[in-house]
Amino acid sequence: MAIQALLSIGELSRRTGLSVSAIRFYEAQGLVKAIRTTGNQRRFARADLRRLSFALIAQKLGLSLAEIAEELATLPLKRAPTRNDWQAISRRIRGALQQRIAMLERTRDLLDGCIGCGCLSLARCRLYNPDDEAARAGAGPRFLLGDRPRRKAK
Ligand code: FES
Repeated sequence: MAIQALLSIGELSRRTGLSVSAIRFYEAQGLVKAIRTTGNQRRFARADLRRLSFALIAQKLGLSLAEIAEELATLPLKRAPTRNDWQAISRRIRGALQQRIAMLERTRDLLDGCIGCGCLSLARCRLYNPDDEAARAGAGPRFLLGDRPRRKAK
C-alpha cells in the first residue's frame, strides 16, 4: 500500500473524533495496527477509520475492550473488511446487545417506580440494601439485576 494512501494519527484523530492518546491506547490494545514510516511515524489504513468508529460505538453500547478486540480480530488484516465481514460481527454481538437492552429497560422501569416513591421498602424496593445484603449475591447492582433480598419485611 502506498504510504500516501495511509492516514497519519492526526488525520485519524480528526476523522474519528478520538484524541491522539485514545488512538494510541486502542493501538496498544490491538484494535488497530499502525505501520511505521522510515521516520518512525505511525500510518494507518483507511479501514482503521471504521475499526475505531466501531470500537467507539461498541464501547458506548457497553461492550468491553476485550470483547471489541475479539470481534475486530476476526476482520482480515491484508484487505479492507467487506460488508459481509462487518455483518458477521453485527450478527455475533446482537445477542449481547439484546441482553443489555433488556437489563437497561428493567433498570429504567425499576427506577421509574422508585423515583417519586421514596418508600425504600425492604419488601419491594430494589434500591434498598440494608447491611449491604446485596454483596452476598455477588458483584454489581444485584437487586437491579434480579436478585431479591433474603430478609422478610418487618
Ligand atoms: S423507593 Fe419505593 S419501591 Fe423503591
